[in-house]
Amino acid sequence: MQITVTVNGQPYTRDVEPRLLLVHFLRDHLALTGTHWGCDTSNCGACVVHLDATPVKSCTVLAVMCDGHEVTTVEGLERDGELDAVQKGFAECHGLQCGFCTPGMMLTARWLLDNDPDPDEGRIRETISGQLCRCTGYENIVRAVRWAAGHEAGRAAAGEGAREGTRT
Ligand code: FES
Ligand code: FES
Repeated sequence: MQITVTVNGQPYTRDVEPRLLLVHFLRDHLALTGTHWGCDTSNCGACVVHLDATPVKSCTVLAVMCDGHEVTTVEGLERDGELDAVQKGFAECHGLQCGFCTPGMMLTARWLLDNDPDPDEGRIRETISGQLCRCTGYENIVRAVRWAAGHEAGRAAAGEGAREGTRT
Protein backbone atom coordinates (compact mmCIF):
# COMPACT_ATOMS: atom_id res chain seq x y z
CA MET A 1 0.00 0.00 0.00
CA GLN A 2 1.09 3.58 -0.57
CA ILE A 3 2.08 5.67 2.43
CA THR A 4 3.45 9.16 2.91
CA VAL A 5 5.60 9.73 5.96
CA THR A 6 7.36 12.98 6.83
CA VAL A 7 10.85 12.10 7.99
CA ASN A 8 13.12 14.82 9.33
CA GLY A 9 10.83 17.40 7.77
CA GLN A 10 10.73 15.88 4.31
CA PRO A 11 7.71 13.93 2.99
CA TYR A 12 8.40 10.53 1.44
CA THR A 13 5.79 8.54 -0.50
CA ARG A 14 6.50 4.85 -0.99
CA ASP A 15 4.68 1.61 -1.76
CA VAL A 16 5.28 -0.79 1.10
CA GLU A 17 4.09 -4.14 2.33
CA PRO A 18 1.68 -3.85 5.27
CA ARG A 19 4.02 -5.99 7.38
CA LEU A 20 7.04 -3.68 6.90
CA LEU A 21 8.45 -2.36 10.16
CA LEU A 22 9.34 1.31 10.53
CA VAL A 23 12.98 0.48 11.23
CA HIS A 24 13.26 -1.28 7.88
CA PHE A 25 11.32 1.46 6.10
CA LEU A 26 13.84 4.00 7.37
CA ARG A 27 16.93 1.92 6.67
CA ASP A 28 16.01 0.06 3.49
CA HIS A 29 13.58 2.38 1.73
CA LEU A 30 15.00 5.77 2.77
CA ALA A 31 18.66 4.79 3.36
CA LEU A 32 18.56 6.43 6.81
CA THR A 33 20.89 3.92 8.40
CA GLY A 34 21.50 5.97 11.52
CA THR A 35 18.55 4.10 13.00
CA HIS A 36 19.99 0.80 14.16
CA TRP A 37 18.38 -2.61 14.35
CA GLY A 38 19.89 -4.45 17.28
CA CYS A 39 17.58 -7.29 18.29
CA ASP A 40 14.53 -9.37 17.44
CA THR A 41 12.93 -9.03 20.84
CA SER A 42 12.17 -5.30 21.26
CA ASN A 43 14.67 -5.10 24.11
CA CYS A 44 17.71 -3.15 22.97
CA GLY A 45 16.29 0.26 22.06
CA ALA A 46 18.88 0.88 19.36
CA CYS A 47 16.01 1.56 16.97
CA VAL A 48 14.40 4.45 18.87
CA VAL A 49 13.10 7.34 16.78
CA HIS A 50 10.53 10.03 17.43
CA LEU A 51 7.03 9.45 16.06
CA ASP A 52 5.17 12.75 16.31
CA ALA A 53 7.70 13.86 18.95
CA THR A 54 7.33 10.74 21.09
CA PRO A 55 10.15 8.17 21.31
CA VAL A 56 9.15 4.79 19.93
CA LYS A 57 11.03 1.59 19.20
CA SER A 58 10.80 1.56 15.43
CA CYS A 59 11.01 -2.23 15.41
CA THR A 60 7.62 -2.33 17.11
CA VAL A 61 5.86 0.08 14.73
CA LEU A 62 4.57 -0.79 11.29
CA ALA A 63 5.50 1.67 8.57
CA VAL A 64 1.85 1.91 7.53
CA MET A 65 1.01 3.17 11.03
CA CYS A 66 3.16 6.21 10.26
CA ASP A 67 1.18 7.23 7.18
CA GLY A 68 0.45 10.93 7.58
CA HIS A 69 2.71 11.25 10.61
CA GLU A 70 6.12 12.78 11.36
CA VAL A 71 9.23 10.81 12.21
CA THR A 72 12.53 12.18 13.43
CA THR A 73 15.69 10.11 13.21
CA VAL A 74 19.21 10.84 14.37
CA GLU A 75 19.90 12.35 10.96
CA GLY A 76 17.31 15.01 11.80
CA LEU A 77 18.82 16.16 15.09
CA GLU A 78 21.39 18.48 13.54
CA ARG A 79 19.93 21.75 12.31
CA ASP A 80 21.46 24.18 9.83
CA GLY A 81 24.84 22.54 10.12
CA GLU A 82 24.92 22.70 13.91
CA LEU A 83 24.77 19.60 16.05
CA ASP A 84 22.04 19.32 18.63
CA ALA A 85 23.16 19.92 22.21
CA VAL A 86 22.66 16.22 22.93
CA GLN A 87 25.00 15.30 20.11
CA LYS A 88 27.55 17.77 21.41
CA GLY A 89 27.16 16.34 24.90
CA PHE A 90 27.91 12.81 23.73
CA ALA A 91 31.01 14.10 21.97
CA GLU A 92 32.17 16.24 24.90
CA CYS A 93 31.61 13.56 27.55
CA HIS A 94 32.65 10.53 25.52
CA GLY A 95 29.13 9.14 25.82
CA LEU A 96 29.78 6.39 23.31
CA GLN A 97 32.25 3.70 22.42
CA CYS A 98 31.08 1.46 19.56
CA GLY A 99 28.19 3.86 18.90
CA PHE A 100 25.59 1.21 18.18
CA CYS A 101 23.21 2.33 20.91
CA THR A 102 24.00 6.01 20.43
CA PRO A 103 21.35 7.20 17.94
CA GLY A 104 18.53 5.79 20.03
CA MET A 105 20.08 7.09 23.24
CA MET A 106 20.35 10.57 21.77
CA LEU A 107 16.75 10.63 20.57
CA THR A 108 15.50 9.53 23.99
CA ALA A 109 17.72 12.15 25.63
CA ARG A 110 16.37 14.80 23.26
CA TRP A 111 12.82 13.88 24.23
CA LEU A 112 13.75 14.03 27.92
CA LEU A 113 15.26 17.50 27.68
CA ASP A 114 12.27 18.70 25.66
CA ASN A 115 10.05 17.67 28.54
CA ASP A 116 12.37 18.17 31.53
CA PRO A 117 15.15 20.66 30.82
CA ASP A 118 17.02 19.92 34.06
CA PRO A 119 16.74 16.20 34.79
CA ASP A 120 18.70 14.71 37.66
CA GLU A 121 20.73 11.53 37.32
CA GLY A 122 17.90 9.31 38.50
CA ARG A 123 15.49 10.73 35.97
CA ILE A 124 18.02 10.27 33.16
CA ARG A 125 18.73 6.68 34.15
CA GLU A 126 15.02 5.90 34.39
CA THR A 127 14.35 7.44 30.99
CA ILE A 128 17.04 5.46 29.20
CA SER A 129 16.26 2.27 31.09
CA GLY A 130 14.57 0.77 28.03
CA GLN A 131 17.80 0.95 26.07
CA LEU A 132 20.87 -1.20 26.35
CA CYS A 133 24.51 -0.13 26.04
CA ARG A 134 27.09 -2.90 26.09
CA CYS A 135 30.10 -0.58 26.17
CA THR A 136 29.94 2.47 28.36
CA GLY A 137 28.48 1.41 31.70
CA TYR A 138 26.05 4.32 31.19
CA GLU A 139 28.08 6.73 33.34
CA ASN A 140 29.23 8.88 30.45
CA ILE A 141 25.83 8.75 28.80
CA VAL A 142 24.32 10.29 31.92
CA ARG A 143 27.10 12.90 31.96
CA ALA A 144 26.43 13.67 28.30
CA VAL A 145 22.76 14.35 28.94
CA ARG A 146 23.61 16.51 31.96
CA TRP A 147 26.14 18.39 29.80
CA ALA A 148 23.46 19.01 27.16
CA ALA A 149 21.03 20.26 29.79
CA GLY A 150 23.61 22.68 31.15
CA HIS A 151 24.60 23.82 27.69
CA GLU A 152 21.02 24.59 26.75
CA ALA A 153 20.40 26.36 30.04
CA GLY A 154 23.49 28.48 29.39
CA ARG A 155 22.32 29.36 25.91
CA ALA A 156 18.87 30.23 27.19
CA ALA A 157 20.38 32.49 29.85
CA ALA A 158 22.43 34.17 27.14
CA GLY A 159 19.24 34.79 25.15
CA GLU A 160 20.06 32.31 22.40
CA GLY A 161 16.96 30.16 22.93
CA ALA A 162 16.50 27.16 25.12
CA ARG A 163 17.57 24.70 22.45
CA GLU A 164 19.93 24.30 19.59
CA GLY A 165 18.85 25.24 16.09
CA THR A 166 15.36 26.42 15.38
CA ARG A 167 13.39 24.29 17.76
CA THR A 168 11.21 26.08 20.29
S1 FES B 1 15.87 -3.29 17.40
FE1 FES B 1 16.07 -3.83 19.51
S2 FES B 1 14.39 -2.79 20.46
FE2 FES B 1 14.18 -2.34 18.36
S1 FES C 1 28.43 2.53 22.88
FE1 FES C 1 28.49 0.43 22.29
S2 FES C 1 26.51 -0.29 22.80
FE2 FES C 1 26.54 1.72 23.62
